[in-house]
Amino acid sequence: MKETFADRLKAAMEQRGLKQVDLIREAEQAGVKLGKSHMSQYVSGKTIPRSGMLHFLAKALQVSPAWLEGREEPADYSSASDIYQNDKSESSGGRAMRTFKKSSKLDNVLYDVRGPVVDEAARMEADGTSVLKLNIGNPAPFGFRTPDEVIYDMRRQLTDCEGYSDARGLFSARKAIMQYAQIKQIPNVNMEDIYTGNGVSELINISMSALLDDGDEILIPSPDYPLWTACATLAGGKVVHYVCDEQSDWYPDMDDIRGKITDRTKAIVLINPNNPTGALYPREVLLEIVKIAREHQLMIFSDEIYDRLVMDGEKHVSIASLAPDLFCVTYSGLSKSHMIAGFRIGWMILSGNKNMARDYIEGLNMLSNMRLCSNVPAQSIVQTALGGHQSVEGYIVPGGRIYEQREYIYNAINDIPGLSAVKPKAAFYIFPRIDVNKFNITNDEQFALDLLRDKKILIIHGGGFNWKQPDHFRIVYLPRIEVLKDAMTKIGDFLSYYQQ
Ligand SMILES: Cc1ncc(COP(=O)(O)O)c(C=O)c1O
Repeated sequence: MKETFADRLKAAMEQRGLKQVDLIREAEQAGVKLGKSHMSQYVSGKTIPRSGMLHFLAKALQVSPAWLEGREEPADYSSASDIYQNDKSESSGGRAMRTFKKSSKLDNVLYDVRGPVVDEAARMEADGTSVLKLNIGNPAPFGFRTPDEVIYDMRRQLTDCEGYSDARGLFSARKAIMQYAQIKQIPNVNMEDIYTGNGVSELINISMSALLDDGDEILIPSPDYPLWTACATLAGGKVVHYVCDEQSDWYPDMDDIRGKITDRTKAIVLINPNNPTGALYPREVLLEIVKIAREHQLMIFSDEIYDRLVMDGEKHVSIASLAPDLFCVTYSGLSKSHMIAGFRIGWMILSGNKNMARDYIEGLNMLSNMRLCSNVPAQSIVQTALGGHQSVEGYIVPGGRIYEQREYIYNAINDIPGLSAVKPKAAFYIFPRIDVNKFNITNDEQFALDLLRDKKILIIHGGGFNWKQPDHFRIVYLPRIEVLKDAMTKIGDFLSYYQQ
């Protein structure tokens, strides 16, 4: 039996797939006054609504008011919903209101980088609270500016970019990407093997949709950048997560990968450099993955969007350069290296043994054609961005912002009792471990919510990256050191008293 009003409310919301904002919006449309803070107080159990509001919520959630109030068994949502269906007095003119549910295809899709904890932060902000957001890898708001030349060139070309381009992208953009592929020694790449996208995000979606039949398996890292798991799941695939091992600098665990390959495994996804761990895989690790992929004839998808944000003098190696006999797809873009996440420009490069994937490539072409083309003004500056001086290099060496912020955050985390972290080598994320025994933590999302409510700091819990234990979270260390210092002092203070 659901014990409190809040429990019943949350259960009904979950069943209907409705969030607090949805109910607030519905109230607004129905002319019912329902404020964000009231809604959140109902959900957190701090208050119970008056009769009028109770009836509105019951109607919106298609349950009986008596059940929602707790005056009436049945205990579970489904039978409560049946009661509503029979309770014509609740509906206007004897007709139950038709409601529209989201597709069940989304049932197992998770994307918590913009999930419930983020919704709560938005609610707090709407109430006037200032929240420090360490949750999303978006460089521009933290003072990372796009190189002037990129802006200048886009302005100059804007009037030439009014029409659709070729579905794969402008010749100039693809040529520049092809030359980039040559520098990275990615083999067997022609102009038609390069596709631009509205960010790498769109291309991940297209790649998964074109590949996976229901039940086809794909190996994806845990932790991952969750869009990969989300898109593979949405496409009907069965995601099998392989573990990256914190004890080994977060490198993929080869035994785990081997143990998880079945007859239905079609591909392996790599995120290198990695989000959320900041790991960079050395050549030896990549060679081992290629060996496994070769043994089982797997396709390799390698997300390398952070390949130009590598520190400590290390060099990024594209796995495709080590696998000329396999079919590889390599992804990158300008969102992070050129701080233009908002322009939406990324690309994918098909390479290696394309004969293995003729039919798949037809599918990619079909989906690529269906979206007509990617954002053309953004394509127009790819050549400018990839050529000449790379201003990002100033950020990732000693004295540069990303480098110095990484040094600061790494030391600060390891100085807080109960936290520890592997030093990131690339990108701008760190994935600290929490000593769950010390804080009695069993639910990492709750940890993120409690930190948000107490200290107004927004981080993403490890579960948001398909990490199965409740013992990690991700910090985006893009803010300046003064801001990070303030955040770390607050996190240190929070952990001096926090118990779950
Ligand atoms: C690993 C990884 N891949 C892809 C993306 C999406 O990038 P884009 O802005 O090109 O869609 C991100 C964004 O954070 C990312 O971290």
